[in-house]
Parts: sequence; C-alpha cells; structure tokens
Amino acid sequence: MEDTNTYEFAWLPGDGIGPEVTREALRVLDAVASAHGFAFTAEEHPMGGAALDAAGVPFPDATRTACLESDAVLLGAVGGPAWDDATSDRRPESGLLALREALGVYANLRPVIVPEALADASPLRPNRVGGTDILFVRELTGGIYFGIPEGRADDGARSTMVYSEDEIERIAHVAFQRAQRRDGHVTSVDKANVLAVSELWREVVTRVRDDHYPDVDLRHLYVDNAAMQVVRDPKQFDVLLTGNLFGDILSDLAAALPGSLGLLPSASVGGTVGLFEPVHGSAPDIAGQDVANPIGTILSAALLLDEVGEPEAADAVRHGVDAALDAGLRTADLATPDEEPVSTSTFGREVATRAADHTHQNASASLS
Ligand code: IPM
Ligand code: MG
Repeated sequence: MEDTNTYEFAWLPGDGIGPEVTREALRVLDAVASAHGFAFTAEEHPMGGAALDAAGVPFPDATRTACLESDAVLLGAVGGPAWDDATSDRRPESGLLALREALGVYANLRPVIVPEALADASPLRPNRVGGTDILFVRELTGGIYFGIPEGRADDGARSTMVYSEDEIERIAHVAFQRAQRRDGHVTSVDKANVLAVSELWREVVTRVRDDHYPDVDLRHLYVDNAAMQVVRDPKQFDVLLTGNLFGDILSDLAAALPGSLGLLPSASVGGTVGLFEPVHGSAPDIAGQDVANPIGTILSAALLLDEVGEPEAADAVRHGVDAALDAGLRTADLATPDEEPVSTSTFGREVATRAADHTHQNASASLS
C-alpha cells in the first residue's frame, strides 16, 4: 500500500456567502480524497469582516500563522455592508490584500471557460462565447494596490501605480510558461500610451519573450481596447497577462461571458503557500439562504488539487461539475425562468456524488 498523504488546508470561510460555498468545496474534496489516496484536514480560521467582529482586525496573526503553516489556503469571500464605513486599514478587503502579501502569491490565475452546457446562459450570442478558454494571469501583490505614496492628504488623495522590473519579469515568466502548455499566445495589457509604468511593463514583457520564449506569440493591447475585445470576440484570447488593477477589472468583465460571476475560480501562486478562492465577492444580499452558486469555489478546490500534486483528483472534481450541469442542475443565478433552481447544498452534493462516481469508474476501467 502507498502511504496516504495528509494535507493540511487552512479554511477561511470569510463573510457573506463565503461559508456556504466553501463548505460545498470541502464536501467535494472529501468525496474524491480517499479514492485518490490522500486525506486532508481543514482547520477553520477567521478572516475579513468575521475576523473584525471576533478579533478586531481583518487578518489576525493566528490566521496568518495557520495559513503560512498550511499546505494550501481555501478562502470564501470577504466584505459586506456592515464594515463598509470602516477606515481603509480596518476594512475586510485590506485583510485580503495583507493575506496575499503575507503568502507572497504574486501570480493570480483566473481561467474563464464557457462550458457548452451554459453557452445559452451568456448575455452574448452563444456562437460568440461557446468555446471561450482564456487564462488570466494577473499580477497580485504589486501595482496600484500596494503603491506608495498612498492615502489622504489635506489637498486631496493619492494612489500610486508602481512596478519594478523584477515584479514585471516574474509575472511575465508565469504567463509565457502557461502559454507554452496551452495555445502559445500571450496578450499583454497595459496603458503604455499614457502611463510610464505601462511603458516599462511593455518593454520588460517584450524582453522576457525575446530572451526566453521565442516560441510564444506576444501581442500588446491597451486596456480600453482589451475590454472591448473581450466582449467582441473572446475566442481570440489564450493567455491574458495584466497588472493588478487591470486584471481585477477585466476578469470581472470576462466573468460575464459564461453568464455568472459565480462560476469562476482562481488560484494565487508563486509564494510560500497557494491561495484558492472564487473570483466573486461575498454577495451579502443572498448570504445564508442556500442559493449561491458554489461552482467557482468548487473549481478553485480543483485548482488547489492541481497545485498540491493531485491532478487526477482535480479532474474528477471538474468532471463532477460538468456532469451536474449536463444533468440540467442549475443554481438560481443560472436557471432560466422555466428551470427549477437547486440550492447551494444540493448542487454541492450532486457534484460530490458525480466526482466520486467518475473516480470509481476510472479505477474499474484501469483494473479491467
Ligand atoms: C478580487 C476582488 C479583490 C481585488 C477585492 C475584494 C480586494 O475584487 O479578488 O478580484 O480587488 O483583488
Ligand atoms: Mg475583483
């Protein structure tokens, strides 16, 4: 018998729908673990508004230590109206930035895929979006989110977009390496017609390609044009490389392509420990009602499995999601008026069952 690997995951449910969607992701992980020869623990830690209420800070030291000592972090979402009036260092969102910084996860990967079963749910014509497969590579620990000077002054306020050559180089390497494993195209996004920081971005990205990845095709787009192209013809993109702010905006825009922000997962890597969270926010208006879409978080758990070295289990999870959608199951955000929506927990259970079945089928196929 092989030894069972036991992973220690830090579970940060956070605020709003965070607890309910992460619970379903853990359920699905649990359904595939033993068949794939691993076990895991998921210790819960306060984060965001929940941590502000419990401990007075959005990212407590104990949470930081637990995350740094874990094998991976699974996060729900942070924020909500209860904490909107707080000053910036006491906002749930500042805790999230501190978490990303503490883990050193400078590369945020956001795949945008439109499953065939959902092409009809898109606000765009199905033939425009069907087959879309974009990987956003968003720089996550620099740019205007972390630039200094920053803050209010007597005469106004300032935020500064800063990138060093090193920061641009390392994220460019991630984008080109991902493209080599995909279709070999990188589109880099900037505002080099206006911003000095973008001029440097364009220069460095071009140099990294020329020096190391002559096999990868590189194109540059200004961010305003990129926004238009993502909506006009999303299928033209393979890897989209962006700085922190542009990636934040464009990835929400791209999330509209499959018809719901609830579908998109993300992985933040490159540091000590990986961070896995859905792209959507805490959706306080529907929190606690068991109606949220858990797919983005379940697919984030699949990215987590890829990252810790369990790619077959990750595929089983993705299969579980596809099979549940193919069976016609839809949460409220995706259901058409003549479809009866299923709850968050029902959808999670249906995915878990199908992911486990897939595992067993593959196991019996390889035995026969
Ligand atoms: C995201 C979110 C965060 C960001 C917020 C909550 C700070 O919008 O992960 O895209 O801007 O990075
Ligand atoms: Mg965002």
